[in-house]
Amino acid sequence: MRYRLLMPAPTHQDPGLLFDDVARFVPAGVDPPALPRSFALVEPLPANCPVPSSWRITPTFERSADAFIATIPTAPQTSLYGTGEVAGPLLRNGFVTECWAKQPFRIEEDGKPAPQYDEKSRSLYHAHPWVLAVRADGSAFGVLADTTYRLEIDLRDGIRLRSEEPFPVLVLEAASPQALVQRLVDLTGRIELPPRWTLGYHQCRFSYFPDARVRELAEEFRARRLPCDVIWVDIHYMDAYKVFTFDPKGFPNPRGTNDFLHSLGFKSVWILDPAVKVEAGYPVYEEGVAEGHFLSDPEGQEYRAWTWPGDAAFPDYTRPETRAWWAGRTAEFLAHGMDGVWVDLNEPSPILPLGAELPADLRHRGGGDIVPGSHAQYHNVYGLLMSEATHGAMCAARPERRPFVLTRSSYLGGQRYAATWTGDNSSTWQHLHWSVPMALNLGLSGQPYSGPDVGGFAGTPSAELFAHWMGVGALLPFFRTHNALHGDQEPWSFGARAEEQSRLALGRRYRLLPYLYTLFHDAATSGLPVVRPVFFADPADLSLRDEDHAFLLGADVLVQPRLLEAGNRAFAAPKGRWRSFTLVGEDPAADPAHPVLRLRDGAILPMGPGGQTSEEAFEGPLTLIVSLDAEGRAAGRLYEDAGEGFGYREGDYLLTTYQAVSKDGAVEVRVAEQEGHRPRPERELRVELLTDAGTVLASGRDGGLVTVQ
Ligand code: NOJ
Repeated sequence: MRYRLLMPAPTHQDPGLLFDDVARFVPAGVDPPALPRSFALVEPLPANCPVPSSWRITPTFERSADAFIATIPTAPQTSLYGTGEVAGPLLRNGFVTECWAKQPFRIEEDGKPAPQYDEKSRSLYHAHPWVLAVRADGSAFGVLADTTYRLEIDLRDGIRLRSEEPFPVLVLEAASPQALVQRLVDLTGRIELPPRWTLGYHQCRFSYFPDARVRELAEEFRARRLPCDVIWVDIHYMDAYKVFTFDPKGFPNPRGTNDFLHSLGFKSVWILDPAVKVEAGYPVYEEGVAEGHFLSDPEGQEYRAWTWPGDAAFPDYTRPETRAWWAGRTAEFLAHGMDGVWVDLNEPSPILPLGAELPADLRHRGGGDIVPGSHAQYHNVYGLLMSEATHGAMCAARPERRPFVLTRSSYLGGQRYAATWTGDNSSTWQHLHWSVPMALNLGLSGQPYSGPDVGGFAGTPSAELFAHWMGVGALLPFFRTHNALHGDQEPWSFGARAEEQSRLALGRRYRLLPYLYTLFHDAATSGLPVVRPVFFADPADLSLRDEDHAFLLGADVLVQPRLLEAGNRAFAAPKGRWRSFTLVGEDPAADPAHPVLRLRDGAILPMGPGGQTSEEAFEGPLTLIVSLDAEGRAAGRLYEDAGEGFGYREGDYLLTTYQAVSKDGAVEVRVAEQEGHRPRPERELRVELLTDAGTVLASGRDGGLVTVQ
């Protein structure tokens, strides 16, 4: 396609510097106040002063007959990341992404379409108009196209953004990629500290049915002594797939099902779809019609599309009244004792025909600070607004509890309301690999809480693939096994060996929970992602820029999994010494289903005793794995609180910095600093010092001095 330049230079207006490190540019000829409100930013940002001439990155805007284009050239050796949820490698140079929330599909070898994605998928469920760029020297800048309209992000030659509607571009400058991600979430919002149980293992299936099967599953986890916190209930619980109903035969007593799960120490998450079946006498539909909650076409006719229950209407979440209606219905639903809500198909996606989308000319009526507009304008924030309404319902229904919402679709900033997963993946080694770069790029786009369907959603994994996926999934932020209608996919479904491998993977996860929870605290306060690319360890080291088989868990743990069917590959590793360690007696050298774990020299890793539930995993002795740096010192932090509720906001937490110092041939470990009012638990402190000669153990009381001889 050729574009004709219509604009003379300068191509932009300068509505100004928002902060010292954030500037906004608008194409010339576009009236800034006439631009729609931002959905990415937490609040409108007024400019302070003009952008100074020393500002390094200024987009060039062009206008063709049918599009607005912004171009940002990049210097050689600039590495590009972000763009949200994308399948394929971590490094995005050379890729074209389309910000357009979409249930992807691909054509199988037999010519039939299948609802899965591959590296050719330009759009997935989320729309993140954001690029994170790391320069050769390790400094970074970010480009945020502040539009909800369809946007093409072309990274084949620098950064080129293209949309049919004019859009402002925010440019962020930072000394490092870490600082840049923190700045992004300053502007777009941080996650809330999640309920602690959500960090445990989740078991899901499309669908466990009937309720007796859910109970049996829960009992089996406990009987086999496989740690698990959460059982998920997918759409078959509904009466004929009608949202906010229960199948009178299969799930006649949802409260009883939840009570049963709770009695065994489980939590439950149940699914809600946005589409509402068109059916006379169905109260949700009738109420929706009477109160004007559904989307309509330009002639004002209710829009309908085919989803699970058949013909269905779609709530217009741009309306505050509709969000309140949805929240009210969700609150009633929660009265049955669900602990979390899973919102799905909210790109929004009709089920048939495959790949169908809602027409661009549907009318959203808006309200409050959302102006009326077309579906072309609001399509990309449909999932965000549904998440917001569902999150609001959880907060209102249970003000004393932390909300948990998982959404399939969202938009830049969606971490404010919900966690996410990487959608309908496939049971292949390639999708196992993509679990890592997908979680990393979501983290680099502001969403730290994500993970894949372990084992793959479509297809059935081999025992070997499943065991490897459990090994990797256990080290990603959201750890849930899920699969489609075929084949069992529980940790015991693939024979005794895979069950034992899964038990070890779960054992590792549950021992690591105190460290993981500390990382979620960091994500909620500083905005740093839970899993981070290896290049975070040394942003100026160009050899690390495309490493996406290994990853960092926080700043201190380097994870090196086997992600290829053919076997392991050489990893690009950061400079310095990263000592390997084990958690539950696993042997990654003998069984590559367990990723190699390495601790940064100078770090202290806090760990719990493990357990069958996250509750147990935070009780009992605390273990510190210590790796001294060249100066004989190490430090690490542990965040603790009640795990639920909001007492932490009033200081009911304990943030401890432990320190290890080598002195006179021994190593002394003690509390160096602490913050928060929560009393220190009376507990044993075990120290495992990693040395060239092996691990040296010592123990004492937490809060006192432990000396390793
Ligand atoms: C599509 C979701 O991606 C999948 O996870 C879910 O199981 C099905 N919808 C059925 O609800």
